[in-house]
Amino acid sequence: MSSKPEQKTILLAVSSSIAIYKSCELCRRLKERGANVYVAMTENAQKLVSPILFESLSGNAVITGMFSNSRQPVPISHISLSHVIDLFIIAPATANLIAKSACGIADDWITTSLLATTAPVLWAPAMNPQMYTNPATQKNIQILSERGHHFIGPFIGTTACGEVGQGRMAELEIILEKIDILLTKNKNLTGKKVLITSGPTQEPIDPVRYISNRSSGKMGRELALEAIKRGAEVTVVSGPSVEKLPYHSNSVYVQTAQEMYEQVLKLFPECDVFIASAAVADYSVIKPLEHKKKRTDEALLLELTPNPDILGEMGKRKNEKQIVIGFAAETNNLIENAKEKLRNKNLDLIVVNKVGGEKCAFGSEFAYATIITPDGIENEPSLTPKRELVQKLYDKIEELLKKKEAI
Ligand code: PMT
Repeated sequence: MSSKPEQKTILLAVSSSIAIYKSCELCRRLKERGANVYVAMTENAQKLVSPILFESLSGNAVITGMFSNSRQPVPISHISLSHVIDLFIIAPATANLIAKSACGIADDWITTSLLATTAPVLWAPAMNPQMYTNPATQKNIQILSERGHHFIGPFIGTTACGEVGQGRMAELEIILEKIDILLTKNKNLTGKKVLITSGPTQEPIDPVRYISNRSSGKMGRELALEAIKRGAEVTVVSGPSVEKLPYHSNSVYVQTAQEMYEQVLKLFPECDVFIASAAVADYSVIKPLEHKKKRTDEALLLELTPNPDILGEMGKRKNEKQIVIGFAAETNNLIENAKEKLRNKNLDLIVVNKVGGEKCAFGSEFAYATIITPDGIENEPSLTPKRELVQKLYDKIEELLKKKEAI
């Protein structure tokens, strides 16, 4: 099972940048997920924000220096803490701190602990764009990356000094996603390519109207995130969705079923696992109107044509090593209907979920669902958080991959 930050001990080292306000929120979000968070601050960071704020947010004494007159949550904390933490995050990270760490300098609590730690280290730099692109900073980042440290950002935008360029600290959602990846121990999908369809498609009627459905893209996002956490390279072909795709996936955006089909056709030969979670519109308008249709009192007939069956086509094309997985969104006869799709579309597995009800399928965090393979039903359908369903699905996918590799 993948790790969750809620059971983890995280050290958040804070250096002095205006982006420090984001670190306060990062500390809060990590606590909210159940992590035990220790915060260490450089002397300059303490001039921007009082340690009392981080103490209140983390619930632990904040480390403000090396010696006994400074605050320490545990004795000899630069050694004892750096050995027990699951992750060492430096956010915001200044050019100075990166430079000192690259040279192995240990002249304060944070740099000393960085030398002593065996935990994964994640840097979220924030600085003036010139300082970031300076060859000295770039070389220091390269040195640390080669030693196995991880970097997230900085991103392009307007920095506190008013300059536009690459210097803004990564947004929290992106940092949190990276933390989830680093904290997941199961990397059994490393080297595997997972291709996912997600969200609805939109089939134009005229320039302002379309045929579509209620898929939010939540299921596709969870599918992508879990595969990324387990080490896979993930590509998502997504229709226009409410949910954002993970930062760490390759994202291909489409509008219609035909466009989704064309993209999947291109990407499918390279993938090891194809998962069709998109709610593809089964029909499109034969000739969408060039101009906006004006209202009249007459009935309006739309002539529709069937869209390509993306999943069915990939089921036909798969080779003996590839795994093809479908979803079935059903209102009734869940198991029988899903089994029929499993057979007709030549699938290795199908996830059936019930449509309707307050917490079900479209737009919900939950699915009333089960997994079916040609060998039978995993268990009776039950209401499950999509995140948990997806974890079970990948456990099954790992089993199937092992079987196929043994052939
Ligand atoms: O996005 P969310 O709000 O989180 O909702 C998730 C979901 C309900 C959309 C998802 O869990 C789901 O069930 N997706 C499949 C919905 C669907 O279209 O089911 P279907 O029974 O009509 O299609 C069967 C399978 O064929 C699906 O894998 C579908 O992606 C695929 N298909 C269907 C039609 C088509 N033209 N091409 C396809 O590939």
